[in-house]
Amino acid sequence: MSVWTGVFLFTIMISGLASGNVSSQRKILEEMLADYDVNEWPDFDREEPTNVSIQMFINSFGSLNAANMDYSIDIFLRQHWLDPRLAISGNKSSITIRDPLMQARIWKPDTYFHNVKDAEVHMVTMPNIQFRLNKTGHILYSMRITAELSCHLELERFPFDSQVCYALISAYANTDEIVVYKWQSNPLDLPDDLEIAQFDLLAYSTDTLTQYFSTGNFSGLLVHFFLRRQNGYHILQTYVPTILIVSISWVSFWLDPNAVPGRVSLGVTTLLTLTTLASGIRQQLPPVSYIKAIDVWVGMCMIMVFGALLEFTLVNWLANKKIIRLQSSTSYQTSSVAAKGGDDLGNGASKTYISQARLLDRISRILFPVIFLVFNIIYWPYYLTERLQDH
Ligand SMILES: *[C@@H]1O[C@H](CO)[C@@H](O)[C@H](O)[C@H]1NC(C)=O
Ligand SMILES: *[C@@H]1O[C@H](CO)[C@@H](O)[C@H](O)[C@H]1NC(C)=O
Ligand SMILES: *[C@@H]1O[C@H](CO)[C@@H](O)[C@H](O)[C@H]1NC(C)=O
Ligand SMILES: *[C@@H]1O[C@H](CO)[C@@H](O)[C@H](O)[C@H]1NC(C)=O
Ligand SMILES: *[C@@H]1O[C@H](CO)[C@@H](O)[C@H](O)[C@H]1NC(C)=O
Repeated sequence: MSVWTGVFLFTIMISGLASGNVSSQRKILEEMLADYDVNEWPDFDREEPTNVSIQMFINSFGSLNAANMDYSIDIFLRQHWLDPRLAISGNKSSITIRDPLMQARIWKPDTYFHNVKDAEVHMVTMPNIQFRLNKTGHILYSMRITAELSCHLELERFPFDSQVCYALISAYANTDEIVVYKWQSNPLDLPDDLEIAQFDLLAYSTDTLTQYFSTGNFSGLLVHFFLRRQNGYHILQTYVPTILIVSISWVSFWLDPNAVPGRVSLGVTTLLTLTTLASGIRQQLPPVSYIKAIDVWVGMCMIMVFGALLEFTLVNWLANKKIIRLQSSTSYQTSSVAAKGGDDLGNGASKTYISQARLLDRISRILFPVIFLVFNIIYWPYYLTERLQDH
């Protein structure tokens, strides 16, 4: 059996040698890789680290996810380094290697994203990887990656917030004695029409660093993205409706103090609508323990609407109370001062009390809008100037 297998393999070898030349490119590569050790980094002999320079082309920038505290990014990660062992002998100016097995025989830096949650290299229709070496042994290793990177969102000023998200690229096993990362002269390549859902990319900054771990020191590259939230959506969906709801609650002050069904239903309806709106907003956000700008706003609107409802209760209570007083005083007075007409007395007494209730309503007509206006005068400059100071 083993004899036949040997004969079979021998036949294949012979036929392989006889039937046609290996392509010249393959021949060059096979020659180059004959005594190539994939475990040795390019500058192993000189005992120097290899410089790997990186450029990122940002294909798209996914929306920031407040609930999961992450963002997704679709990039072409381009790594360049020089491997003098792979300088092409012959006339070819560059060779592109497609074969994954051949690629696996060549040393590559083990780059990874430090703050990655999930990532994938695109495989449609072929692995989105470019591996090219040129005559002098410069290697370009480019791949398309979609990564979900963690980003800690600070939501104190939501929805007038600015966020800073980062990506940290480093080597997993190659210490800084083996690989040193550098940014290319233009580290980030951004398309002109880069759009990020709900955010504007104001700026970015790049940096190099070294991470000191117990397993060694690792060279790394850091990029920060400065993002500002677009407010149009929240202004239209939250601020305008709540302003309207609060204004509608003031209609109550123009109604008669005794219009119980009208004023109660107005107060309760506005309060419920506001509660529904607030719970809708809450669903979009993680349950953080601090107070956000939108909470301050919704809270104030709640207080305003609730205040209007309380004001009505007070007005109505006043009205009811004086009627009771009127009856007791009427009976008391009729017993003591029998001469006075009951009708006249009743009218006179009820006029005084109702006018107090009406006065309260009249004050509220001014007071409530003024309070809300003052709140607005404080609220908007506070959150908008903080936002401007940011950048
Ligand atoms: C193989 O290539 C060499 C030159 O590279 C050429 O001289 C020879 O004729 C080729 N052989 C065949 C079988 O094509
Ligand atoms: C890497 O870059 C540094 C400075 O940028 C340089 O001194 C060093 O020679 C480079 N290493 C190699 C192997 O080219
Ligand atoms: C390389 O190119 C030169 C001139 O361009 C030519 O004379 C030579 O034959 C070529 N060598 C090979 C191996 O093709
Ligand atoms: C190979 O690529 C490097 C980096 O892109 C470049 O500096 C060098 O000139 C190229 N060499 C040739 C022979 O094209
Ligand atoms: C890491 O860097 C520190 C400071 O530069 C140095 O003291 C230490 O020896 C380095 N560790 C390794 C494993 O190279």
